[in-house]
Parts: sequence; C-alpha cells; structure tokens
Amino acid sequence: MPELTAVAARVEGAVRKGTRRLRTAGCATPRLDAELLLASTLAVDRARLVVESPRPLTADELARFQELIARRELREPVAYILGAKAFRRISLHVDQRALIPRPETELLVEAALDLPPGARVLDVGTGSGAVALAVKDERPDLQVWGVYIDADAVELARANARALGLSVDFVVGDLTAGLWGDAVLANLPYVADDAPLAPEIRQWEPPKALFAGADGLTLIRRLVSNLDRVSVAALEVGFDQADAVATLLGEAGFGAIERRRDLAGYERVIVGRR
Ligand SMILES: C[S@@+](CC[C@H](N)C(=O)[O-])C[C@H]1O[C@@H](n2cnc3c(N)ncnc32)[C@H](O)[C@@H]1O
Repeated sequence: MPELTAVAARVEGAVRKGTRRLRTAGCATPRLDAELLLASTLAVDRARLVVESPRPLTADELARFQELIARRELREPVAYILGAKAFRRISLHVDQRALIPRPETELLVEAALDLPPGARVLDVGTGSGAVALAVKDERPDLQVWGVYIDADAVELARANARALGLSVDFVVGDLTAGLWGDAVLANLPYVADDAPLAPEIRQWEPPKALFAGADGLTLIRRLVSNLDRVSVAALEVGFDQADAVATLLGEAGFGAIERRRDLAGYERVIVGRR
C-alpha cells in the first residue's frame, strides 16, 4: 500500500493518495473521507481544500493525516475519528459510547415540531442526545427528557447539552424509565441479531445500540405496550419494518398513523397520534 511520502506532501497529492488507500480498504466514499480527514488535519473547511490544493503539508500535518487515514483504513467511522457529527442545526460530540446519529433520524425530530406550547417530550434511547437536543434547539418552549439505559454513556448526552447550552434532562433507565410525555420519540435498536452489517457498524458502534432480537422488534414491541397516555409516538424502524410497527401502534390505540420516508424512499419513521 503506498505510503503518503514527501512527494505526495501537497494538499492535492495527499487527497489523491489518501483516497487510493481508503478505496483499497473498501471504504464506500473514499474521496469524501480523505477530504474530511485532511480538512480536519489542517483545521479548514473541506471546501477550502480546492484553494489550498498546491500548498505543501508540514511534516507534522502529514504525520497527523497519515494517522487519521490509518484509522479509517481499519474502517473506523469518520464521525468517531473526527469526534463530531452534524444533526439538523446542531453539532454533537460523538464517540464509541453511542451510535452516530443518522440523517433519517432527523425525521423523528419533525414529529415534535407541531406539538402545543410547553408539551412534554421523551427521547427514548437517547444515545448522544441527538433527538432530544435537536428538539430543544428548534422548540425551546418544550420540556424535553432523554432516557438512556447506559449510565456511563449518558454522560456523553449531558456533555453535549452543556456544550450546546440546551436545557434537557438526561435520565438513566429502561425505555421511558417510568416518565410520561405528551410525545415519545424513539430510535431504539431495531437490527435483527443476525443481520449483515458494514464493518463500520459491526466493529465500531455499540452492539447495545443496534440489536433487538430475532426480528429486531423486541424493544419497540415492549415500548409500544407502555404508551397508554401518550398522544404522539414517533418510532424509527428498519427499511422493512414499517408495516409491522404501524400495526403495533394501531393495536395500541393510535388511530392516525403516518409514515415518513427517508431520502432513499423507505418508510423509516412511523408516527402514531391519538
Ligand atoms: C439506535 S441507538 C439511537 C441513539 C440516538 N437516539 C440516535 O438516534 O442517534 C439506540 C439507543 O437505545 C439505547 N437502548 C437500548 N436499550 C434500551 C432500553 N431498554 N432503554 C433505553 N435505552 C435503550 C441504546 O443504548 C442506544 O443508545
């Protein structure tokens, strides 16, 4: 595998060689990843790399970039390497304690935006705090809680709340932890135990954030059976679980069911209202 030597030690050459290494390692978006890692190394925006393209890298910059490329070659996700992920209008610190927030999860936030003033919102399985914090950011009048099963990881969500100056209470507990909300938003684990997953997910993200039994619905089923007094339930699901979860919500007394699609056209968030 070609090393990034002094010959490549200009911005343009570093991107090219980094891209080649990541493509060989099987990364799906090698050029984008190499650019993001170099932009982080140089502490510039990715767009700025075009302007900087003939500029030589210092020995320190080259060494640092090599280190990041080597991590990505092991299929560590870019968000964990950079320690940050954008989600709606906020940027979250992320590390291996929690799942990296995904674009489709932004649909969960939308389900809370038309709630009446002062309504109570629970984000169940809050992870990095992404959903709870984005809701609070966009609707500061709502009362928002995030619940997380893992006592160590909940500190990540609390640190994100402090960094963003957002007032959200994070509670350690199982599912709703006995709390009640007008709305319950949940991106719980929904992957079937034997599902094939990319190395970035299977080797790097926490199993507790992914797997939920033979059909992936163990936790969602348990949550839906405990939503008696909830007016709005919004649940993220896998690409082939929409029908099953819409049925569960209907059986639990949610009369109006809405399905929201991700950018690929899959029904990924099911919203029940009563
Ligand atoms: C798919 S991740 C979602 C994280 C975050 N909400 C997001 O969308 O980026 C699911 C989260 O639910 C948590 N979790 C798993 N079982 C739980 C339970 N019984 N009660 C509460 N949270 C749970 C996991 O630890 C994990 O952080």
